[in-house]
Amino acid sequence: MITVKEALQRASFQLREAGITAPRREAEILLAAILEKSRAWLYAHADEILGNAAYLQFRQWVKRRAEGEPYAYLCGEREFMGLPFLVTPAVLIPRPETEILVEAVAEELRECPNPKLLEIGAGSGAIAVTLATLLPQAEIVAVDISTAALEVAALNAERLRVGKRLRLLPGDLYAPVRGQKFTAVISNPPYIPTKDLTNLTKDVKDYEPQVALDGGPDGLAFYRRLTVELKELAAAPRFLALEVGQGQAASVSALCHHAGYQKIKKIPDLAGIPRVILAKL
Ligand SMILES: C[S@@+](CC[C@H](N)C(=O)[O-])C[C@H]1O[C@@H](n2cnc3c(N)ncnc32)[C@H](O)[C@@H]1O
Repeated sequence: MITVKEALQRASFQLREAGITAPRREAEILLAAILEKSRAWLYAHADEILGNAAYLQFRQWVKRRAEGEPYAYLCGEREFMGLPFLVTPAVLIPRPETEILVEAVAEELRECPNPKLLEIGAGSGAIAVTLATLLPQAEIVAVDISTAALEVAALNAERLRVGKRLRLLPGDLYAPVRGQKFTAVISNPPYIPTKDLTNLTKDVKDYEPQVALDGGPDGLAFYRRLTVELKELAAAPRFLALEVGQGQAASVSALCHHAGYQKIKKIPDLAGIPRVILAKL
């Protein structure tokens, strides 16, 4: 017999030994998911005895996490801007940096009466679904080359009740929306240089989809295509909002400038690293 508190202590120790940076927090997230309770509940019920089935599952998940599997894939959920997103190994796990991109776009469009937005590379739908909740007047189209990812995005759109204003289309970049007109194009494209993929941490390189990570030889392949192929749309969107990897802001700004965008803003993350390029005509 083991209590909630003891199970968490053992799991935290095991995860710390495995090099996980926030062992206690992740142990709590895993146990809370198994018990279908909040993390606050775990504190309020620290002395409660865990059932055998729950403890067995917890031990298995902690072992898998210690071996590198991301906790979000184990629980099947990840919070993004306070909203719960379903995630499977078909989609990139939404990252906190991407919240900067969503906040910048929402701020830019708050006063716009009926924006039509295009997201390239929907993944779990974290960006498109969150924008749909923040901008009730917006119509959003989100494209992804992975139909498996779009299935997850569709579930998230349905769960968060924005399905009516979000169209999910399979295809390569602008191909599914050729000749259409949008207020803005938003993207967090794959941006890791191909040669760096093998140096990523195990939880990323062994578990997250390569199609969501590989940005070509210099990591900039998608930014080149996103800016050059804009001519496939009926008109240039009023602005582009692009998440960028570390060290890519100057090159991506230059690509936007070359595509005719004159006013370019680089938005930094909390560490001061430029993470988002907002380029206006
Ligand atoms: C870095 S992930 C971003 C996922 C999600 N938007 C987010 O921010 O969490 C990039 C996404 O681009 C998609 N993708 C890769 N190549 C693509 C292409 N040629 N056309 C459209 N989408 C593509 C991947 O399947 C993946 O879902």
